Amino acid sequence: LISALREGSQSPLRVLSVIDSTNSYLKLNTDLHQNGAACLAEAQTAGRGRQGRKWQSPFGASLYLSMYWSFIGGYQAIGGLSLVIGVAVVEALGKLGIEGLQLKWPNDIYLEDKKLGGILVEVEGQINDQSHCIIGIGLNVQLPESVHEEIDQPYTDLTHSLDHAIDRNHLAALVLDLLQQHLHRYEAEGISSFLPRWQELNLFKDKPVRMICGTNEFEGICLGVNQDGALLVKLATGTRAFYGGEVSVRSL
Ligand code: ATP
Ligand code: BTN
Repeated sequence: LISALREGSQSPLRVLSVIDSTNSYLKLNTDLHQNGAACLAEAQTAGRGRQGRKWQSPFGASLYLSMYWSFIGGYQAIGGLSLVIGVAVVEALGKLGIEGLQLKWPNDIYLEDKKLGGILVEVEGQINDQSHCIIGIGLNVQLPESVHEEIDQPYTDLTHSLDHAIDRNHLAALVLDLLQQHLHRYEAEGISSFLPRWQELNLFKDKPVRMICGTNEFEGICLGVNQDGALLVKLATGTRAFYGGEVSVRSL
């Protein structure tokens, strides 16, 4: 079914049952190392988020997918990548009539102030001025009660806030296609044209936030993002740009 829904696409897609992590699978399977190639799974036994955190991935409950893309250039070429992916996911959900989504810098998708999904970009290697990226997306569709104990922050799924069922094949096809379109545009034109949309979706726009950078913490007002994909926060000492990596933002 998903192949039929993606009739116009030339990119390979591998549909798996239970695996450790779609990101790990894509990393190891070099035959899928071509732009737009993707894999998705019904369940992950070792789904992961940023900084080694766990991503709850029960069978048939969500979308777990990864796409490969190689960009010309080093880290500066992919600075805003997770923001572009966030915009693509929101637009895919919008095509299914899902509104009210927001993005939390740098990599989370929110619905009604709760975490609906996440993005994990892993840079496989930077060889010959190319950044080989594994782009992972997890989106909750209908999580079982059993994950409740395991997730230590407010979360939600699509079924919870909609009055109709979601067809995961349709959702996957939309996400994959929009992601490809946006990545082509990002590659050709950079991040500029995505920024206004990201700013609209910013969960913490003009709100007080705490920035956590390892053992250092800073409080200020969230202003938005810049051309490098960094989060701009107005501190008492002036405006400072925070770059992804090990940095987390929390509401105050
Ligand atoms: P950050 O702001 O640093 O990204 P985060 O708490 O959102 O912080 P992530 O690494 O992005 O951390 O995501 C992992 C976290 O997401 C887990 O620690 C858990 O709290 C939560 N989580 C795990 N599985 C799910 C899921 N299926 N749906 C929603 N949230 C989840
Ligand atoms: C986060 O919020 O930190 C990101 C979560 C990303 C989860 C997805 S599910 C598909 C892919 N495979 C993984 O192991 N992680 C990502």
